[in-house]
Amino acid sequence: MSNEIERLSNPGLPEHQHRATDIDPVAEKKAERQVALYFVLSAIGTLVFIYSYIFVPITSFVFVPILGSTNTHQLLLGLGLAFSLLFIGIGAIHWAKQLMPDNEVIAERHEFRSPKDERDDFVATVKERAGAAGLGRRSLIKRSLGLSLGLVGLAPLVLLRDLGPLPAKQLETTNWAKGVRLLTDPGDRPIKATDLEVGAVAQVLPELGAGVERTLSSIGKDAVLLIRLRPEEFRLSAERLSWTYQGIIAFSKICSHMGCAVALYEQQTKHLLCPCHQSTFDVPQAAKVIFGPSARPLPQLAITVDKDGYLVAQKPFNEPVGPSFWERSS
Ligand code: FES
Repeated sequence: MSNEIERLSNPGLPEHQHRATDIDPVAEKKAERQVALYFVLSAIGTLVFIYSYIFVPITSFVFVPILGSTNTHQLLLGLGLAFSLLFIGIGAIHWAKQLMPDNEVIAERHEFRSPKDERDDFVATVKERAGAAGLGRRSLIKRSLGLSLGLVGLAPLVLLRDLGPLPAKQLETTNWAKGVRLLTDPGDRPIKATDLEVGAVAQVLPELGAGVERTLSSIGKDAVLLIRLRPEEFRLSAERLSWTYQGIIAFSKICSHMGCAVALYEQQTKHLLCPCHQSTFDVPQAAKVIFGPSARPLPQLAITVDKDGYLVAQKPFNEPVGPSFWERSS
C-alpha cells in the first residue's frame, strides 16, 4: 500500500529543472528583449506587405536566382506576409518557453466513490422500501412482473415483420434474356444498329412476352442505355468487346451506388454521370467507375442482332443490376 502511494505521488517524472530565466534576472531581461525583437521583425514584415501592396507596381519584375524573372509585387507581398506570421509565431513560442510561469500545479480531484456511510444509507433505504412494497413476500407478483417485462422486450422484434418479405432472388433477375429484342423507350419500337449514329444515346426496354405486363418496378430494373462509339474507341477485354455490336454498347441505367437513373452522358469525354451523388462511369472501359461513391461498374448487357437485323440481348445480365447490396438480397 505504501509503495502504491509512493508511485502515485511520484509517477516517475524527472525532477523539475528551473529555467535560467527563472533564477537569473539578466537571462530574463535578455529573453524579454529577444521576444520583443521577434515581434518587431513581424511588424516589419507586415509593413513590407502593406508597402508593396500600395506602392510596388504590379508590372515590375526582378531577377531572383533559382526563380528567374519574378513579379516584384507578388514576391514582396509573399515575403512580407511570411515574415510577419513566422516571427509572430517564433516570438510567441519563445515567450511561452522562457518567460511564462513554469510552476508544476497539482489538480485536486475528489474521490468518485461515495463515503461509506452514504452507501450504507442507500442500501438500507432500498431494503426498507422493497420490504414495504412486499417484494420479498409476494413471489407471485415478482414472477408475473418478470414475465411481463420479458415480453415487453420481445415486442419490438415482432415489428421487424413490417419491413416486408425479403426480396429473395427477384432483385437479381430482369426481363432480359437470350434473343429478347431491344425496344425504344418511349416508342416501343425494335431498333437496328443503323438507327443509332456514333455519339448517340438511347434508352431501351426489353420486348415482353405475350401476357407479361410492363410495370414501374420492372422498368426500374430493365432500363438500359445504348451508346454508340467508334469501335476503336473501346478499351475492353475480348469478351466484353464481343458483347458490343458495331460500336454499340449497352449498360443498365440503374446506378450501382444507390439506384438512381444514370441519365447524363457527356459526349466529349464519353462519361456517364449519375446526378444523385456524381458517380462517373467511363463508357469505353465498360462503365468503369472513375469518380464518386459507386463501388462497381454499371452492369453491361451483351447484345447482338437477330436474323432481321434488330438488336437483341445475347443473354441476361450476368450480375444483379442496381445498388450493390442487391447482390446480398437472398
Ligand atoms: S445513386 Fe448514383 S451516385 Fe449515388
